[in-house]
Amino acid sequence: MAKQLFHLSRDGVSLLIETSTGTPNIIHWGRALPVITDPEQYLTAVTEPTPHGLFDQSHRGGVWRENARAFLGQPALQGHRAGRAFSQKFELASVSTPTDHSLEFVSRDEHAGLEVALTYEIIESGLVKVTPRVTNLGAESFNVDGLMAFLPLPDYATDILDFHGRWMRERQAQRVKISVGKHVRESHEGRTGHDYTIVQFATTENASFQNGEVWGLSLAWSGNNVHSIEREMVGRTQIGAGELLLPGEVILAAGETYNAPTVIATYSNQGVDGASDRLHRYQRARAGHVTNIRPRPVSLNVWEAVYMNHDLSKLTALAEVAGRIGVERFVLDDGWFGARRDDTAGLGDWVVSTDVWPNGFKPLIDVVKANGMEFGLWFEAEMVNPNSDLYRTHPEWIMQAGGRTPVEARWQQVLDLTHPGAYEHVLGQVDAILSEYDIAYIKWDHNRPITDPGHFERAAVRAQTLAIYRLFDELKRRHPGLEIESCASGGGRIDLGMIDHADRFWASDNNDALERQSIYRNTSIAIAPELLGTHIGPTKAHSSGRTHSISFRAATAMWGHAGIEWDVTEASELELEQLAGFISFYKANRDLLHSGRVVRVDAIDENAWSHGVVAQDGSRAIFAYAQLRTAKQILPNAMRFAGLEANATYRVNQVEPAGAPGKMQKFDSATWVDGVEVSGAWLMSAGLRTPILQPEQAMIFEVVRL
Ligand code: DGJ
Repeated sequence: MAKQLFHLSRDGVSLLIETSTGTPNIIHWGRALPVITDPEQYLTAVTEPTPHGLFDQSHRGGVWRENARAFLGQPALQGHRAGRAFSQKFELASVSTPTDHSLEFVSRDEHAGLEVALTYEIIESGLVKVTPRVTNLGAESFNVDGLMAFLPLPDYATDILDFHGRWMRERQAQRVKISVGKHVRESHEGRTGHDYTIVQFATTENASFQNGEVWGLSLAWSGNNVHSIEREMVGRTQIGAGELLLPGEVILAAGETYNAPTVIATYSNQGVDGASDRLHRYQRARAGHVTNIRPRPVSLNVWEAVYMNHDLSKLTALAEVAGRIGVERFVLDDGWFGARRDDTAGLGDWVVSTDVWPNGFKPLIDVVKANGMEFGLWFEAEMVNPNSDLYRTHPEWIMQAGGRTPVEARWQQVLDLTHPGAYEHVLGQVDAILSEYDIAYIKWDHNRPITDPGHFERAAVRAQTLAIYRLFDELKRRHPGLEIESCASGGGRIDLGMIDHADRFWASDNNDALERQSIYRNTSIAIAPELLGTHIGPTKAHSSGRTHSISFRAATAMWGHAGIEWDVTEASELELEQLAGFISFYKANRDLLHSGRVVRVDAIDENAWSHGVVAQDGSRAIFAYAQLRTAKQILPNAMRFAGLEANATYRVNQVEPAGAPGKMQKFDSATWVDGVEVSGAWLMSAGLRTPILQPEQAMIFEVVRL
């Protein structure tokens, strides 16, 4: 094929691919380049010296990272045909443009009997979607061990920012320097997991929320995965992501294709917030995005109020109080089915328990509806307790390998949804409940990592992941309007694959508002806030024993799909008034909170954070100032804003929808909180010095362009 240069560009981002050596080779992903009128000049610009001590021709090896093209790292495609065809050299066969903004490169290795293809699509928000696939053209089967997508990073990318976590403490930021070698984040849990980064970034030195260049990859996949940033000894740096395949998971028979999950690449020269904004705009542009259908209803989930002690009179009282303060959705959590009176039994038997619900859900649903709410219900139907009718009848329906029963976690095993009988059982029982009752929403849990993930001894995480996507899609098809929340002991299955099958993510089982500050801040980098469940927990957090005011809990829960997870029948009249105040403020502002640009202001003193949501047209915003710990100095640093129009004048004033925050000062002399009119430039540079808050307190500000 002739030398060619391909340029995809949109919304401030360019991707440049050249094919001079017979393989697609990405020479730039980042800042937008002007229209290229003389491609030869760019091809000349990327010529390089040929060093001693290496190969006699210098070239980058292209996207397939083939050993045969003098690339010494891990190839993009790994696999073999019973030990042969392990080293491939793909020659470019065709380049097509499926759409105005996409390119497809198809390459073949006739000797290996393989065809690989890569599609690059640059979408309106400037995100690049990369989708690889491999087809077996040979007569014998080909084992795919891995197929990753890689993008180049410039030499001046110096840092890595990604997120780690555990149950109760998801998405904690970690930064390391890029050095020679590989920084790899892998998930082997059979679900993405609490430790899953969701997005992995390479950044320029000290890049922050507002400043610097960042390059991030996310994977549209909810099973095992790998993310990596690698600097080779040659000096080049690449970022990659892909599905982590277990041995034998993908064996292609003649003519079969493996479609790898799409990798979503976000670039910004306006810091992490810029990259985050592209991800949010992408999610919001999807037709099925939940806020394109209806506003997010304020929810009350009964889990932390009653746990598994289901009692109609208690839940009726809870529903009446919830309705009175403005809650719009009432969710019955774990404990309603089979023998599920505690967590040792019942999973698998998705039939309403007549022990606790002698007349079914009708009496409760009637109360819920009479109080102006819709009804939601919890399931965890990928799981089975050995102490269940399902397991007693079908012990062979669990995932297992090696002829042994996998180690239990929370007294449960994983149901093998790739088994048609198990799949039909789950679909049938869940569908029956959804058909019998008026249920608007289901919370779907996944409380254990998968070990020995076998289907009749063959690795099946991939097939299990596709099965849950299929199941969710089928439930939605049968029950139009049904919303699904993806929960996995809190935030154990939050990823850009699940966004296309579920409508909400439970961010964490930790409902302590202080802990939730960092969990939301970081989870919302990749996930649009309206997809994140954010609940006001009990006064004394069950997870930590800390006590927080409603004002702080509400100022924390405001930034997602808000709700309550607390026994509000025990709340005082004042507390109920504060909750009602929060709910009405939230309802009045959720259009902005769920469509605006999320900004996290770079902190000078990490003991206090400010962040907000700014309308896409810059006309209004809501900001929070959260004092996490006591400040370093007596006076707080001035609170700065971000994302506003520099030349516009804004009115800023404090609002207290859920009561006043606790302060530590002689007088309320920062009178600007009652209203001040200054320029966006002032707010984003000089800022405003807030009252001196006690630790674990927050203030909320409305900002309106005049
Ligand atoms: C874990 C979830 O994260 C909780 O919210 C709750 O639904 C429990 N499971 C129920 O078992």
